[in-house]
Amino acid sequence: MQTELITEFTPGGEATRAFRDALGRFATGVTVVTCATPAGPQGITANSFSSVSLDPPLVLWSIARSSTRFAAFSAAGHFAIHILAEDERDLAARFTRGGAGFDGLDWAPGPGGAPVIGGTFARFDCRLHAAHDGGDHLILVGQVERAAQRDGAPLVFSQGNFGAFAR
Ligand SMILES: Cc1cc2nc3c(=O)[nH]c(=O)nc-3n(C[C@H](O)[C@H](O)[C@H](O)COP(=O)(O)O)c2cc1C
Repeated sequence: MQTELITEFTPGGEATRAFRDALGRFATGVTVVTCATPAGPQGITANSFSSVSLDPPLVLWSIARSSTRFAAFSAAGHFAIHILAEDERDLAARFTRGGAGFDGLDWAPGPGGAPVIGGTFARFDCRLHAAHDGGDHLILVGQVERAAQRDGAPLVFSQGNFGAFAR
């Protein structure tokens, strides 16, 4: 028997908050996406990552047009997507608003020039394959030129909170 209260709504206007909350019920992993800019390395914490295609190897993520980092990522021909492990929460915090960014962080340019942060759970070095309109976001599809991974457990994000994967 259904005992929970279910709220239904049409997205938009006063229901925007509810729409965000409903989307937040989808648990995701957490990534840090990086690119090179003339002013130095740029990075952003993103959970919009998704796998797309095995052959050719394609992945996607999306960036908010309102982000101060939008100009950098929409102009980048290469980007590196770092998938974070549960013990890499500090990296997620670095690349949100007001975070420390690359200050004091160990990184090196990857194959296409995008900054590579060592040791993350997995990494996909991408060449921009396509950019698609996504409303207030821009959807960036990358062709994976090189990938890396290590053992560990993923960092998880849902309903505004970081957590761990439990079997
Ligand atoms: C878990 C998490 C996931 C996020 N995912 C995305 C994302 O997929 N795309 C995006 O544009 N911003 C995302 N953000 C927001 C950015 O990390 C960052 O906070 C935002 O771009 C800051 O805006 P600013 O660049 O204007 O300072 C996410 C933030 C968090 C904490």
